[in-house]
Amino acid sequence: CCLVILLSLGVVGAAKKIVVGFSQVGAESAWRTANTESIISEAKKRGIELKFSDAQQKQENQIKAIRSFIAQKVDVIGFSPVVETGWEPVLREAKRAKIPVILSDRAVDSKDTSLWVTFMGSDFVEEGRRAGKWLAEKMKGKANIVELQGTVGSAPAIDRKEGFEEIIKSYPNMKVIKSQSGDFTRSKGKEVMEAFLKAEGKNIDALFAHNDDMAIGAIQAIEEYGLKPGKDIIIVSIDAVRGAFEAMIEGKLNCTVECSPLLGPQFFDAVEAIMAKKPLPKRIVTKEGIFPQEVAKEVLPTRKY
Ligand code: AHR
Repeated sequence: CCLVILLSLGVVGAAKKIVVGFSQVGAESAWRTANTESIISEAKKRGIELKFSDAQQKQENQIKAIRSFIAQKVDVIGFSPVVETGWEPVLREAKRAKIPVILSDRAVDSKDTSLWVTFMGSDFVEEGRRAGKWLAEKMKGKANIVELQGTVGSAPAIDRKEGFEEIIKSYPNMKVIKSQSGDFTRSKGKEVMEAFLKAEGKNIDALFAHNDDMAIGAIQAIEEYGLKPGKDIIIVSIDAVRGAFEAMIEGKLNCTVECSPLLGPQFFDAVEAIMAKKPLPKRIVTKEGIFPQEVAKEVLPTRKY
């Protein structure tokens, strides 16, 4: 009889639904769209209630979203920080409310690592190194390079630049002659590449773009300028989205370094581990590869994003 009473009170029976708040950077690139899809579909698959918020690349919107998740007393907060700094006050509010935080894709720059449970995502410095190594080899150690950086102050822009420079500095004839942010978008990538071409023209041998979308925008700018992308200007970028493979098959992009956006399964594995009070590593690194133009045709059908 007790069980009947408990059941009718909802004390026993269906397990309580996990509620997760997720603050996404925006929809700036094909990578981000695939990342959002991975998070939303995985929540659905597992029957987890997801409160999803798109910050449109603005930190203030992310802070607002996190505060609203705290007010709604969600079980876990996940977010992909648009920039690295400025998160401590809001993360302390989450900590005070005893809501665990998972950093997905991008890191925050804070000494207080107690503000999040785990950080999962790529090793962006290593991605920059991979792009640098590939380019140095391709150019036989000699090139005037232009660089399209990601969003100013974001972890991938800071780290990819660092990794790339670490490699390039051992080649005295590999020089970055222009470097500017294209905000990880196609339109900004095109616009900034137009300015690079106006200033340097045929002096440019190679382009390092911090993501494929900016490289695709730049390809358009190079064609409109009357040069052949992939031939007159050698291009390496990061992400390995389908659009990059298509550009490689057309001979317009030379290499893409993989950065996987398919973080949904590991993100919700972490959520479930937290709910089950299981320990988690502080850092979960995504495994990734690198794809030169020569393998593009063979690999494209297997790509999931
Ligand atoms: O944080 C990952 C980066 O963000 C991707 O490389 C880029 O395409 C996205 O916008």
